[in-house]
Amino acid sequence: MEDRYQREINYLRVSVTDRCNLRCRYCMPPQGVSVVPRREILSLEEITRVVEAATEVGVKKVRLTGGEPLVRRGITELVRKLAGIPEIDDIALTTNGILLAGKAGQLKAAGLCRVNISLDTLKPERFNFITRGGSLEAVWRGIEKSLEIGLHPVKLNAVVVRGFNDDEICDLARLSIKHPLHVRFIELMPFGTAAGYSREGYVPAAEIRSLIEKELGQLQEVRKLAGSGPARYYRLPGAPGTIGFISAVSDHFCGRCNRLRLTATGALRPCLFSEHEIDLKGPLRRGATRDELAGLIARAIQDKPGWHRLGQENFRTRKNMSQIGG
Ligand code: GTP
Ligand code: 5AD
Ligand code: SF4
Repeated sequence: MEDRYQREINYLRVSVTDRCNLRCRYCMPPQGVSVVPRREILSLEEITRVVEAATEVGVKKVRLTGGEPLVRRGITELVRKLAGIPEIDDIALTTNGILLAGKAGQLKAAGLCRVNISLDTLKPERFNFITRGGSLEAVWRGIEKSLEIGLHPVKLNAVVVRGFNDDEICDLARLSIKHPLHVRFIELMPFGTAAGYSREGYVPAAEIRSLIEKELGQLQEVRKLAGSGPARYYRLPGAPGTIGFISAVSDHFCGRCNRLRLTATGALRPCLFSEHEIDLKGPLRRGATRDELAGLIARAIQDKPGWHRLGQENFRTRKNMSQIGG
């Protein structure tokens, strides 16, 4: 279905939990993150009902996010339920990769098409620092497993933070030469906890690109990669993988935004950067029909703003990325 700005909205990002087994410094505070009581979180059946209703207004792709989606009990069962909806032709997952090696096989068998995995550094101690305790080795096993069983394309997400991992930009980019991996560099966005970080830490995509080109050679633009997300893709000469840039801050992609978000607590969020939400949990639990749900989803599509206010002085959202689902 088209919104008021002639954008075709066909992609639903579903946050299945606000919990995470890591505490990345730019995403979450060390402690005191209020986790939502279980009854406030949509059940697997409720999520499935929302996705079914969303197909009525043209949703064809679903991405499962969190928090960390692999800490949600029943995640494989959810993938199986969603894969059984005939109109859904793409089911993807965004994960920090810690639990991936152990679950990738069953997820793929249940109908998962592909994965995006966060990887900000190739140095184990640094990884441990930024994630407050995570094991890089576990993530790397998850990446290898995903490649091995064909959860293609396997995309990596690296949030670049000045003074933390900007010295690793070329090493991360080289992964696309060695492996069929799609390495995406993400500009740090000013979310809740990250707002403080983003002032000093923000590195524009143009700067990342010129660093890569200086050391590794000219990037050639790649037209299309599975998934219709915000990244622009390029290839280093002869590389099996690609390099992508998600320049949410310096060059927003609102004009080609195709998505809606469902939060773990059952609200539809028309835009990542706007606090405006439409509650679906209430109607779901009061027995709303599929058509009534589809009507609310259509309203959320019509409520999508044309662009975000990120460029404005002192802009920040109240919620963290982990509470919205990225
Ligand atoms: P595909 O293209 O389908 O593979 O997915 P994706 O790149 O949209 O998803 P992923 O969950 O891997 O997100 C990568 C980064 O892009 C994260 O930092 C997200 O927060 C960011 N992102 C995803 N969607 C949007 C959006 O609508 N607006 C903005 N500004 N950032 C987004
Ligand atoms: N800015 C940009 N990306 C972020 N992520 C989490 N917080 C931020 C932020 N403030 C990334 C994660 C993950 C993806 C879902 O979002 O690193 O790769
Ligand atoms: Fe967890 Fe992802 Fe946030 Fe890191 S960025 S704390 S892995 S939700």
